[in-house]
Amino acid sequence: MDIVFIFEWLDASWLSDLARTSAGLFSMVQAVHILSMIMLCGMIILGDLRMLNVVLTGVPSAVIIQNTKKWIYIGLAGIILSGIYESSAIAMKLATNSFFWAKMAGLAMGIIFMLSVRSAVYSRAPEVIGSNGSQSDPVDAWVVKLVAVAHLFIWFSVAANGRWIGFS
Ligand code: HEM
Repeated sequence: MDIVFIFEWLDASWLSDLARTSAGLFSMVQAVHILSMIMLCGMIILGDLRMLNVVLTGVPSAVIIQNTKKWIYIGLAGIILSGIYESSAIAMKLATNSFFWAKMAGLAMGIIFMLSVRSAVYSRAPEVIGSNGSQSDPVDAWVVKLVAVAHLFIWFSVAANGRWIGFS
């Protein structure tokens, strides 16, 4: 499916004019993109490292996963909105940029993996089942760790590809 017309439309939009002519606003949106990434990736790293028993081992992992959820969604909203604004300034470059497409694929994969596999496996981690007396069968501890490492890797690739767009 040819979706270049979306980039052509974005390139000709008022958003693109604004992004190209207002350097001050553009820098602020770039700052929002980075701060949203810090929020999003910070919360993801916290949850995954907890499941790997690296940080905050004295706090129940279910509490950490539950409390980081809202901030992950806020970080995602900020990064997607600021990302669309940044994209409008260089839409035609992005349409054919492999790092941009690798980043978008990673982003889709990260969101789907987080909401499906990560969420299902973490809620059935042995320590979570043990602490809330759930009737579900716990998954093996190595599965929890594998999911944590895979999740960290996916989001790292999104951030690395994001940075690489600027070098390409
Ligand atoms: C729909 C979502 C997103 C869009 C449309 C988007 C778009 C962009 C654009 C256009 C740039 C500027 C590239 C350049 O010219 O240097 C950028 C930079 C960047 N993005 Fe995103 N992005 C999105 C989500 C994300 C996510 C989820 C992450 C990280 C987890 C991320 C990390 C970065 C990084 C690290 C940079 C480089 C920042 C810099 O060097 O100033 N982006 N993004």
